[in-house]
Amino acid sequence: MIHLDDGFLREIISAKKLETIRPRLERAAQQVNRGECAGNDFLGWRDLPIDPDRVEIERIKQEAQRIRTEVDRFVVIGIGGSYLGARAAIEFLIPPFSQPQPQMLYFGHHLGSDYGAGFLELLDSGTTCINVISKSGTTTEPAIAFRLALDRLNRRSDAKTLKKRIIATTDPRHGHLRRLAEAQGWTTFAIPPDVGGRFSVLTPVGLLPIAVAGFDIDALLAGARDMALLCQESMDPGKNPALRYAALRTLLYESGKHVEILSTFDPALHYMAEWWKQLFGESEGKDGKGLFPASAHLTTDLHSLGQYIQDGSRILFETFLWLEETRETLVIPESTQDADDLNYLAGRSLDAVNYQAYRGTALAHSDGGVPVITLGLKRRDEYTLGALYYFFEYTVAISGLLLGVNPFDQPGVEAYKKNMFALLGKPGYEEEQKRLEKRLDRSIADF
Ligand code: PA5
Repeated sequence: MIHLDDGFLREIISAKKLETIRPRLERAAQQVNRGECAGNDFLGWRDLPIDPDRVEIERIKQEAQRIRTEVDRFVVIGIGGSYLGARAAIEFLIPPFSQPQPQMLYFGHHLGSDYGAGFLELLDSGTTCINVISKSGTTTEPAIAFRLALDRLNRRSDAKTLKKRIIATTDPRHGHLRRLAEAQGWTTFAIPPDVGGRFSVLTPVGLLPIAVAGFDIDALLAGARDMALLCQESMDPGKNPALRYAALRTLLYESGKHVEILSTFDPALHYMAEWWKQLFGESEGKDGKGLFPASAHLTTDLHSLGQYIQDGSRILFETFLWLEETRETLVIPESTQDADDLNYLAGRSLDAVNYQAYRGTALAHSDGGVPVITLGLKRRDEYTLGALYYFFEYTVAISGLLLGVNPFDQPGVEAYKKNMFALLGKPGYEEEQKRLEKRLDRSIADF
């Protein structure tokens, strides 16, 4: 499933040092396993794959099958935890450059007008199903995107057809989206109230889009279940990779390494890194504490960020996400002229070159004072992916508790929202609007 290799850390974190954190680690793991930790009303993700709702999963599969046969494109409208997990899965599993049926598109995760206008034009042809996903049902970006998309589709579809093409995934009882969906009679899926957005990929939030894209959600859940059992059964960081990863990153943080870079060596992992950044950033970054989660895509970023990682401020450590088996083998051909001097590589696969790039980079960065950890992923399939999702979720719960924060809330996300509502003139924010405008007059240029 997931192999953790920390061979490069041996000189930095001795076995003795690792032992010192063990009592804290065990306490955090017990708190999570027994439901006694901070934020324990948001532990619904913990047993999701161990005890899945089979009836709901069948309903997801049936709905996905219907959509696959009925429409040309499937649009996921959501932001943060309400779209990143599904996108990460689909982009990891799908063969590069292939055109899935239906085409998968994402909307509502920013406010760029040119993107929005271009996207809406796509809806003027063919058939579209929209899956609007918002746990709160009130998040501004997806709510605006949904209104725009609905308005566009309304111009060319009759109400009866449109009704079959909108699916709302939201809280089972609360929020604007739940009320709207029920009033309109759209199909709905519920996000369990005790599962936070960034932990929701194994609920209908992730499972429906992943199934619509044609992937095996049973295998995804099986991988997550096996990882869940491993994580919850063993208190030994030698056997439990999530506990070991949590311990190492905590010790590195406490030794002054305040940035963790997740470095990937395959473009299929790009959105996995985006999902990981959200999971770790929102779970740990609070109360003036927490590792800053960054990502690098290698070897691409060795030609941009590489210089900094090798030689810049020594505040970093690096976690490599290495895909052990690829699906294709691409062999470098022999050239009679050898004008590019590459014949020494002829007959070798691109994977073999990538592997040496990984090994060479790990060595160089380690020599440059960047502690290095590797997470090896067995292969590019649903089972491995499910295990990886759970592995990260369990790790961040433990790391957050070791840090002394509640890993399951996100109070900091509200600050910009409050300002934005006031500046946009949302009813109820009138006084705040005046106050903010005055402050902004003094500190920001008009554009
Ligand atoms: O992890 C979280 O809770 C957040 O990132 C949310 O997923 C994000 O803000 C979207 O929220 P909602 O699903 O309520 O629209």
